[in-house]
Order: sequence, then C-alpha cells, then structure tokens
Amino acid sequence: MSARATSAIPVAGRVGGFVYAIRNIVAEARKVEAAGRTVRYLNIGDPITFGFRTPPHMIEAVERAMRDGHNGYAPSVGILPAREAVAADCARRGMPLSPDRVVITAGTSEGIELALTALAQGGDEVLIPVPTYPLYTAVLAKVGARAVCYRTDPARGWMPDIDHIRSLVTPATRALVVIDPNNPTGATYSAAVRRALVDIADEHNFPLLADEVYADLAFDGPVPAIASLNPDAPIISFSSLSKAYLAPGWRTGWLAVGRTDRLDEVLAGIKKLADGRLCSTGPMEYALVAALTGDRSHQQAFRLALRQRADVTHARLNAIDGITSVMPSAAFYAMPQVTLPPGVTDADYVLALLRATGVLCVYGSGFGTAPADGFFRVVFLAEPSELSGIYDSIAQFTREFLAGRTS
Ligand SMILES: Cc1ncc(COP(=O)(O)O)c(C=O)c1O
Repeated sequence: MSARATSAIPVAGRVGGFVYAIRNIVAEARKVEAAGRTVRYLNIGDPITFGFRTPPHMIEAVERAMRDGHNGYAPSVGILPAREAVAADCARRGMPLSPDRVVITAGTSEGIELALTALAQGGDEVLIPVPTYPLYTAVLAKVGARAVCYRTDPARGWMPDIDHIRSLVTPATRALVVIDPNNPTGATYSAAVRRALVDIADEHNFPLLADEVYADLAFDGPVPAIASLNPDAPIISFSSLSKAYLAPGWRTGWLAVGRTDRLDEVLAGIKKLADGRLCSTGPMEYALVAALTGDRSHQQAFRLALRQRADVTHARLNAIDGITSVMPSAAFYAMPQVTLPPGVTDADYVLALLRATGVLCVYGSGFGTAPADGFFRVVFLAEPSELSGIYDSIAQFTREFLAGRTS
C-alpha cells in the first residue's frame, strides 16, 4: 500500500495578490467577539445591516417573477426589458446607448471583473485611484495585470491629480478607473476634473471605467454620468441595485458600454466572457425593471439620512485631537487621518481601536494608502445617536493611544 500524502495542497500563487481588506479584517473582529466584546461593524457599506429597507415594489417584482415561473436561466447578457431599462436610465443620465450595449451582471463587482478580464493581461497596466476600492487591485492581481496608482488629494477634497495621471500613461496602459462618487473617500469630482479624465481616455484611446454605483447618493442630488460630458468617448459605466436601490444581497447590477464603435471589440469580449457564467440572478432582473422605471422616492429620504450622518461624522471626527477628516459629499464613507507617531501603522491603530472599543473600521492601507499615513475608513450608516457614541469611543481611544505612544 502506498503511503498517504499528508502535506497541505497548495493554492495558486495569484491568491496571494487577491487582497480585500474590507472583509479580511473580519477575522480579527471575530477573535475580539470570541473574547466577549461586542463588535460594531463599520467595515462594510451595507445599508440593510443598519436598518435601511429595500423598496417594497422591488421585492414584489421579484416575488411576482418567481411565481410567474421566471426561475430558469436568463440570457447571459440579461433579459431585454432589464437592458432597456438600464439603457433608458443611462440616457436620462446623459449617456445615450442602445440596450444591446448593456450587460446585466452580478453586481457592479462582476461588471468590473468582466471588463478588466476582457481588457487586461500580463504586462498591461490599469490606472487606478489611491485610495481605491480594493476590488480593482484584487482583480488586476488575478488577471496578472499591473495596477498603476494615481494620487487623489485630501487637501483638495480628494480630487484626482490630473497631471499625475497624465505622467503615468504608457503604451501599456489599457484603462483608466474612475470612482465618482468615491468609495472610500465620499468625494464627488468637479466638472473640470471629470472633463479632464474623459479627455485623457479619449485622447489616448483607452476605456475610462466609470464606477458610478453611488451616482444617485450624492447629497445634493444625482450626479450625471461622466459619459454625459462626451458620449462618444470610450467609457464603460458600472452600477447596481446594491446601494442606491438598497438591495446589495441580490447581486444585481449592470455595465453599459459607450456608443462609440471603438468599444465594439471590448463589448464582444465582455459578452463572450459573460456567456461562460451563464447569467446573473434571474428573478432580480425583473426587479431591476421595477427599480429603474418605478418610484424612487426612497432615494431622497436616503440622501437626507446620509447627509445628517455625514455632518455628525465630520464634526465629531474633526473635534478629536490628532484626527482630520474631509467632508464627504456622497455615499456613506469618510476617510479620516490620524497623525501617527513614527513606526506606527494604520493597521496598528485600527486593530488597537477594535480591541479596545469593539469599533471595526478598515485601515487605509487596505485601500492603498501608505501605512504610516494613518488613514482609516469609517462607514457612517448607523443612526446619528449611535454614531455619536461611536465617535466618543474613538475620541477616548485616540487620546489614550497617542498619549501612550508619545510618552
Ligand atoms: C466603489 C464600489 N464599486 C463597486 C462595489 C461593489 O458593489 P456591488 O454590490 O454592486 O457589486 C462597491 C461596494 O461597496 C463599491 O463601493
């Protein structure tokens, strides 16, 4: 009889490059919970876990679709009424295109993955903002392409540094990622910056990948599609039902490929890849029609609730000695900075905060900022009164942490 092999079975090397701190950090929180402390999870931007509710007409649309027997596979690009609804929504937002340039996806996440997989391979470069939403770096690690980071500046409301972006373009650049409104900073970009970003992609003839999942959650009202500045520029827009339609668990979103024929091959490539994963969640595609063509009054209430929470967050964080924070103008994130003593990292601070108070944030280096810079991200979806208590805890902890480190 041959001896039984007992050594660990290795995983592919690419897994090492696939880092998603927003969820990876939960392992630490579980240890803190196991030690008996309650954890307040401010790491994930999920409005449902903080008491916001999916609009009833969307839930009814899913129920109806299931009862009507729409439980089979959908077309891999999505059902036509859903693609028509997305195309009409894009046109309303200033990005006119036909429904055959829309693919219904398992959230914005799958749209990003499909587009990057269709565009980039080993040796290619993709321009991404820092701080970034970490799925971009994770997927680029998976496809073997290089994430080339461009600066966004907290001193200018987290605006992208256009000159820096221009200096980073090389013959290997395959796409420019723009997240506006932004996670993790909560920024919305000025018209001038948006136009400059579109011009860069247009001039250099690579796609601008426009992550617009928070477009309807700017506090001053919905932000137009970046493609509205030039509908003939090579732009692919991504969004979903997760945030502005309060249904993140449904995993239903879309990508919309700009009308220029320069993107025809990329669109064909994306559709080919989409065939392999069969389809997105079928019954939810019917809710997508209900969401985009039905009552959106919940969004107004949601924006108001978010602005209140942003105000509390901004005032309370900036009142803490050693912390500064830029006022967000959209979504439910702030990216404060704590002035750390030499040798201390953002992860040291965030993990010590978790262990001392049970408040779980994500360290900035999980979004690509330098560990010594002391950034961390707060999700401010909790009730203002609860947030106030949380900021009391952060204030007390930070005072003790910085005193302990400097004395
Ligand atoms: C900027 C950004 N893009 C994409 C996503 C993924 O969203 P979805 O649930 O639509 O996949 C998120 C989720 O937090 C996000 O913040």
